[in-house]
Amino acid sequence: MTKDPSNVTVTNTGETYVCPEDTPLLDAALAAGIHMPHNCRGGACGTCKAKVLEGMVDHGWAMSFAITDEEKEQGYCLCCQSKPRSPTIRLAMVNPMHAREAGEEAILPAEFTTEIVAAHPVTPTVLRLVVGLPAGVSFRFRAGMNMEFELPGIEPPRPYSIVEAPAADGTLPDGQLSFYITRHPKGRASNWLHDHAQPGGTLTLRGPYGDFAFPRHDGPVLALAGSTGLSPILSAVSRALEDGFAHPVRLLFSVRERKELFACDLLARLARRHPTFTWQATLTREAIASPGPQENPFARGRIPDLLTKESTDLSTSAVLVAGSPAFVDACAAAAQARGAAADRVVIDSFLPRGPVSQVE
Ligand code: FES
Repeated sequence: MTKDPSNVTVTNTGETYVCPEDTPLLDAALAAGIHMPHNCRGGACGTCKAKVLEGMVDHGWAMSFAITDEEKEQGYCLCCQSKPRSPTIRLAMVNPMHAREAGEEAILPAEFTTEIVAAHPVTPTVLRLVVGLPAGVSFRFRAGMNMEFELPGIEPPRPYSIVEAPAADGTLPDGQLSFYITRHPKGRASNWLHDHAQPGGTLTLRGPYGDFAFPRHDGPVLALAGSTGLSPILSAVSRALEDGFAHPVRLLFSVRERKELFACDLLARLARRHPTFTWQATLTREAIASPGPQENPFARGRIPDLLTKESTDLSTSAVLVAGSPAFVDACAAAAQARGAAADRVVIDSFLPRGPVSQVE
C-alpha cells in the first residue's frame, strides 16, 4: 500500500503520468493530457476498463454490470473509479485508444466559473441553459463532449452534454456553451438548475469530458436521439456536416408528446444548410390526428418499432444513439437487429453516478 503518488504507464501507447493516491486513474490521465477511453465517469458503463498488468488499485464503487467481481479478480479495473495503491502501475486499456495526431493539442479539462446568460424552459420539463466563458479562459473541446456541473451540496457533480459544435480548431465559436436539462422528479441537480439558474447568476463547470463522437465511417449515418440526448448528437452531427461529411445523415428524435419537442429550429436550420441531413420527430405517447391537407411532419411510436416497421437496412450504416439508458439499450439492440455492426453503434447515455441510494 502507498500514500505516495504512483507512476502510471498506459501500455497501449507507452504514455506515463503521475497519479496522486486520492485521485482516480482516469482523472489524473486526463489532467495530464493523456486520452483514456471514458464515458460516464461514474463506474456505470465499462468504457474505461483496463487490465492492471502491474501494481495495485483500490476499485472504489462500480456497478456490477460495468465490472464484475470475477473481472476484478482477473486484474481488471475501471479507471474512472480506481485509485492507485502501489508506487508503480501498468495498465492495458481494453477499449481502443485514440492516439493524438502529430501536432494535435491535448484537450485538458479545467474548472472555471461561468455567468449564466440565459435560462428558460423550452418544454414543460426541459430547461435551456446558456453560460458564457470567462474572458481569458482558453477552452477547447471535441463535438459530443460534456461538462460537469458543481452545484451547491450536490455530489457527485452532474454531467450535461454541450449542444454547440466546436470550431474546426476545437475552440468555442462565440464563447457561450448551452445545455438542455430535463427536470427529473428525484434529480437533485436538474431540480436545482430548474429552480435556481437565472441570468446573471454564476455556475462552476469542469471539463470537457467524454468520448461520444461522430463515427469514422465511410457510409450513411443514422442518429437516434431520446429527448435531451439530442444535445451531443446535435454537436457531433453539426461538426461532421461542417467538415463536409458526404454521406446521408438521418436523425430520428423521440419525445413523448408534441409539447416536449425542442430545438426544432436548430434541426430545421441544419437541414436547410446541409441537404444530406434529414430529420424527423417521433411522438411515443401522442396520437396523431388523421392526415390533413398538409403532410404530417411527425412519426408515431418508439424508434425501435419504427426501424422494424420501415424494414430499415443498416448493414452499411453507422448509428449514433444518445438518451436514457433504457432508450439507448433498446435502440442499439434494434439497430443491430436491422444489420448494424456492433462496432459501428456509438452510444451516449445519462448514466447514474454513485451508489443507487445516492443517485438522482
Ligand atoms: S465506467 Fe468508467 S467511464 Fe464509465
